[in-house]
Amino acid sequence: MKKSIGIFDSGLGGLTVLKVLSQKFPNESFCYLGDIARLPYGNKSPETIRKYGVQILKFLKDQNVKALIIACNSASTVFLGEHEFEGIPLLNVIEPGSKEALRVSADKKIAVLGTSATIRSHAYEKTLKRLDSSSVVIEQACPLFVPLVEEGIVDDPITEMVAERYLSEIKKDKIKTVILGCTHYPVLKSDLAKTLGPDVVLVESGEVLSEQLQALFKSGVILKEVDNSRQIRVCITDLTDHFERLAQKLMNPEPIGQLEKVVL
Ligand code: DGL
Repeated sequence: MKKSIGIFDSGLGGLTVLKVLSQKFPNESFCYLGDIARLPYGNKSPETIRKYGVQILKFLKDQNVKALIIACNSASTVFLGEHEFEGIPLLNVIEPGSKEALRVSADKKIAVLGTSATIRSHAYEKTLKRLDSSSVVIEQACPLFVPLVEEGIVDDPITEMVAERYLSEIKKDKIKTVILGCTHYPVLKSDLAKTLGPDVVLVESGEVLSEQLQALFKSGVILKEVDNSRQIRVCITDLTDHFERLAQKLMNPEPIGQLEKVVL
């Protein structure tokens, strides 16, 4: 039986990652889990986030997966340094995101935007400093961004006002590399770019994860599918019309089938 790639987020933000991966790997099947019933993770304790994460990884493992991806920065903070789960390769967004930011940054001054949980953990700062001790890291929690995305308030004066508030220090410090340390934030890319200006590089999780996945294929740790009879499943732990519409919008133009409501 064909094996798929398991991927999860606290909600629908991780679909920004699924979209990129599904476009880069057109023969691969994916099984996505959005834990909408318990969103947000960003204001929860590390113990609770870890408990939810383990539950979801077990659920995805039961779906016949060959790799597991944590497409949620808040959840990635509690699985840092863990590269497999019960024998299955496990990827998180923080280590590859940090490497990519250091690669593209000329002055090694890097800002990290994230949920309160991600920023409170200092996972990016610790990882960036471990990789390059000369790097200067500024962290900024942006707790209002996730609800704005979940409500579809994008390309909107309200979002720009909020961005202006959160990003003022980063602008003042003339930081040119900004990690979008939450998988919801790529949806706000145009609002953020407008606020920060065109010469600021925004580092996204989807892109960096596709390189990590490519490396797993190349090294033969997991095998590539050769035919194109793939399936993309999007499972969520709560289902309303609102989520159905939002999921279509986030994945557009990639088609997705009906959302599946699952119990963990
Ligand atoms: N998408 C999650 C992340 O990347 C944030 C959403 C939440 O707070 O649950 O951190």
